[in-house]
Amino acid sequence: MDRIRIVGGKQLNGIIPISGAKNAALPLMIASLLTKDTLTLENLPRLADVAMLVRILGNHGVDYMVDGRRPGEAPNSGRTVHLTAKEIVDTTAPYELVSKMRASFWVIAPLLARMGVAKVSLPGGCAIGTRPVDLHLQGLKELGAEIEIEGGYVLAKAPKGGLHGAHIVFPKVSVGATHNVLLAAALAKGETVIENAAREPEIGDVADCLVKMGAKIDGIGTSVLRIQGRDRLEGAVHTVLPDRIETGTFAFAVAATGGDVTLDGAKAVHLKNALDVLAQTGAKVEEVANGIRVYRNGGAIEPVSVETQPFPGFPTDLQAQLMALLTRAAGTSVIRETIFENRFMHVQELARLGADIHLHGDTATIKGVKVLKGAPVMATDLRASVSLVIAGLMAEGVTTINRVYHLDRGFEQLEQKLSRCGAGIERISTG
Ligand code: EPU
Repeated sequence: MDRIRIVGGKQLNGIIPISGAKNAALPLMIASLLTKDTLTLENLPRLADVAMLVRILGNHGVDYMVDGRRPGEAPNSGRTVHLTAKEIVDTTAPYELVSKMRASFWVIAPLLARMGVAKVSLPGGCAIGTRPVDLHLQGLKELGAEIEIEGGYVLAKAPKGGLHGAHIVFPKVSVGATHNVLLAAALAKGETVIENAAREPEIGDVADCLVKMGAKIDGIGTSVLRIQGRDRLEGAVHTVLPDRIETGTFAFAVAATGGDVTLDGAKAVHLKNALDVLAQTGAKVEEVANGIRVYRNGGAIEPVSVETQPFPGFPTDLQAQLMALLTRAAGTSVIRETIFENRFMHVQELARLGADIHLHGDTATIKGVKVLKGAPVMATDLRASVSLVIAGLMAEGVTTINRVYHLDRGFEQLEQKLSRCGAGIERISTG
């Protein structure tokens, strides 16, 4: 199992290219199931989760082709892939695959909409919380599906004549449930309205792609989506939007170590709240022509109080990274996690480096300390792992992070991107 070894205390200076967003890439790839034609996705990140989804889609009959690298193309530029679901050969998504990656549960929507049936394993809980799918099932039922749960599987069946439009009011904002209903409604008969839809930029990216495939969608980027379903959708070419969580992660890393970095290709509008919080901590943040510049030279890290919220609020996917930064603040900060009930696995690992964090229910109180000291730590989930990288970059001495496969799920070339900016970071392969 690989480990990451960090020698802390170095500033970050230079340019970091931002990859395509994992959380847009996954539902966009799933959208390929909606049509017999080819969906071409540009700027697809090279991630373990993307590779896993290729396997899952292959099981349903999706043909996958990757363009070779063009002359002069940077080694880390995103890939162009072609996904073709000419025939759906299997409408079952088995436990062995779905349990490895929650987002693969979302195949239920296109399978049901196109084939009229789907049998998809329940994804189960994970390190950050129980993560039920009741809202996904509520949405699909309102589109006319009959749903049964049997042996850990969701068995979904469309009514005679296929799914139909509906007026769905979600009692709670859910990214996944919004994706699922959006995908199904694109092939349902008539109009679907989703109220209290998630407004994350990745939802907008999928909606934009569905429009290119022939769906009519109003209200993209708002909490009310209106979708006119189509009998069939066509192929399209779509570019995956830049990863706002990767952007925020590197922005917090620069604020933590000091230095001056341009996040190339990043879009500030996708993480305005997080950048405002970053500015409150004393870092300088500027929108530049090609992305975002973040710098901090010498000044103290100021404490802040933040609570996670659905977009446009502060993202839960940046909570752990912010906490790592605040471990060295000149005062006491408070972070409340309102999205997931158990997303504090990084706290005990940060404590191993000397952080002073007190947990009470959904609230963490972080008393800034003068120094962190390197130590061996354990990665627990994707975002928690990268918070340990940030803490390791700030700490004196050597930090070794174990179980780095969590990082590979969602960060493309993390060590390379950081070491090119001066970080002391390397991967140690142990076989
Ligand atoms: N929820 C329900 N019932 C449902 C669905 C969700 O109660 O049917 C609850 C969840 O348990 C949670 C809250 O609603 O407490 C929000 O969950 P949501 O459905 O929005 O999350 P998700 O779709 O499972 C996506 C991202 C997560 C990100 C969350 C929140 C992808 C592939 N995953 O998950 O990303 O944290 O939205 O923004 O898009 C990550 O990338 O590390 C990651 C965990």
